[in-house]
Amino acid sequence: MTIADQTQPTAKASQVDLIPAHVAIIMDGNGRWAEARHQPRTKGHVAGLENIRRVLRHLENRGVAYATIFAFSTENWTRPVAEVSFLLQLLAESLKTEVGDLHENNVRILHQGRLAELPVELSREIAAAVKLTSKNDGITLIVAFNYGGRAEIVDAAKRLIELGTAVEDLDEKAFASQMSPPGVPDPDLVVRTGGEFRISNFLLWQSAYSEFYSTPVPWPEFDELEVDKAIQAFSSRQRRFGGVLDEQPK
Ligand code: IPE
Ligand code: IPE
Ligand code: MG
Repeated sequence: MTIADQTQPTAKASQVDLIPAHVAIIMDGNGRWAEARHQPRTKGHVAGLENIRRVLRHLENRGVAYATIFAFSTENWTRPVAEVSFLLQLLAESLKTEVGDLHENNVRILHQGRLAELPVELSREIAAAVKLTSKNDGITLIVAFNYGGRAEIVDAAKRLIELGTAVEDLDEKAFASQMSPPGVPDPDLVVRTGGEFRISNFLLWQSAYSEFYSTPVPWPEFDELEVDKAIQAFSSRQRRFGGVLDEQPK
């Protein structure tokens, strides 16, 4: 059984004709969602965490093979200490409580970001979850935690130097080989919830030709219908990758 088998689709599959293989999500708007309910921001993070399972299930239902979720950026360390601690704690707890279920549901978990800067115990737990689920062949969930696009590019450059890469071998393929987890394609669709129209240091390299979709819906309220709206928007886009379409006059 896969995680997708547990829910009913909300729209007929035929309505969604072009499915992105990789959807990357900037899960934004948790704090404002909570504040609008006169609750502490932390409540928004808890609700946001709970929403991941629902969205993941539906993405798999729709045939999406890879989902990247932006859970904590390299800039989020600048938040108040209590909020940062809460977010680290939330990840630690969710690794304890969720990974078993995700594994049973055949989800493969990967991490993207600087693992070494996280508390040792947390980085060990992340590594253990990745190892446990490494043979699963359902949807791949890439958790971007302590992730920043600029940091990733800098780290890739450092690694290429350490490997003694010759200048003539420094090409896009070489850089890409040091970035996303191996085998993960660039995102076809980047979704941002919470209403902003910015990338906030997310997948700077990989999103060069991703389609971008922003919705005012805050992450805790981004449900199956909203997933379908994002996929619908994607399927109506014309991707050209800098080229021209075949039917255009030469
Ligand atoms: C996104 O929600 C979650 C993280 C960045 C960890 P926010 O916490 O940024 O929520 P808003 O944008 O302040 O509403
Ligand atoms: C982006 O949201 C990071 C995550 C969702 C983890 P932010 O809330 O940190 O982005 P800004 O500060 O609005 O650009
Ligand atoms: Mg935010």
